Amino acid sequence: MFESPIIAAPMAGGTTTTDLALATQRAGAFAFAAGGYKSAEQLAADIGPLRDAGTGFGVNLFVPRTGPLAAADAAALTAYRSELWATAARLGADVPTAPAPEDPRARDFWEEKIELLLREPVLVVSFTFGLAPVDVVAALQAAGTWVMASVTSVAEAVAAAATGVDALVVQHRSAGGHSAAFLPATASVLTATLPQLLAEVHAAVNLPLVGAGGVSGPAQARAALDAGAVAVALGTALVRTDESGARQLHKDALADPAFAQTRMTRAFTGKPARALVNDFVREHSATAPDAYPEVHFLTAPLRAAAASSGDAQALNLWAGTGWKSAQDGPAAAVIEGFLREL
Ligand SMILES: Cc1cc2nc3c(=O)[nH]c(=O)nc-3n(C[C@H](O)[C@H](O)[C@H](O)COP(=O)(O)O)c2cc1C
Repeated sequence: MFESPIIAAPMAGGTTTTDLALATQRAGAFAFAAGGYKSAEQLAADIGPLRDAGTGFGVNLFVPRTGPLAAADAAALTAYRSELWATAARLGADVPTAPAPEDPRARDFWEEKIELLLREPVLVVSFTFGLAPVDVVAALQAAGTWVMASVTSVAEAVAAAATGVDALVVQHRSAGGHSAAFLPATASVLTATLPQLLAEVHAAVNLPLVGAGGVSGPAQARAALDAGAVAVALGTALVRTDESGARQLHKDALADPAFAQTRMTRAFTGKPARALVNDFVREHSATAPDAYPEVHFLTAPLRAAAASSGDAQALNLWAGTGWKSAQDGPAAAVIEGFLREL
């Protein structure tokens, strides 16, 4: 399915630029464009140069939540909004209300992006944050696309396989950025290593697997491939590269010894994501509700204000547990470093 054992993971929010995807692809990786947070028009514009390059690539989309927030989470969201005002005032930002459920932003422009990918198919489409409906999977496949679901456990892998997808991204909890999880974590998810998780999923589901999470060097990549993965996805290892669109503040924080650990937090978006621990994470993780994408919209102006004032303590510094190995310089050097050792 993939001609390379190395995949440039999709990183929405600005990190995966078209330049980053092209650079990793030219260096021998399989590249994903990040479709999350984008309208169909923005996505079409971003993948144009990848189509022109003539090499197959993937597009990643966020599966929107179906149904309203649970009452307890809605109440916690209201309380969280009040809590954020003090931080917002310090940053000189507002705390907006979240868009209404019928607002296309609340569904991350899902329908129009699926339409785009059916009209102008790409080689691979991967989903995260949930399972795409069976009819969407089948329609993409009928258009000639390989469809992948992102999972974090055996239970999620079994559920994903039942939707008819062609392959799975098995994301370990060491991964930077949002967790792909859509079912409650089992004990094994909290203790297994990436190779162990891959072996468990491999035994349960007969689909090609891509390993993701904590692949910070060739040794981790080799261990994942030996455990049954057909390829591994690199996220954090590419964030500091020249072609990455991550903010300089984020890139610098990844190399700053003052940031000593990562943790899973809902504080920025309402969905668990792994980030470097900063003041925002310390202050808000305990109270942040399970309310994605509402919290994402509430904190967006705070994050923008933090970025423009150079305040890394209030920014979402997504990072996997292997962040200390992330290198700056050309993305090609990172990819070539992995490929040489494999
Ligand atoms: C900055 C950042 C943004 C991310 N955005 C996405 C995304 O849009 N879609 C997705 O499926 N995964 C996303 N991820 C997760 C990656 O696809 C991948 O699973 C993860 O980075 C692998 O772990 P690593 O960071 O330890 O390499 C993101 C990760 C990071 C670090």
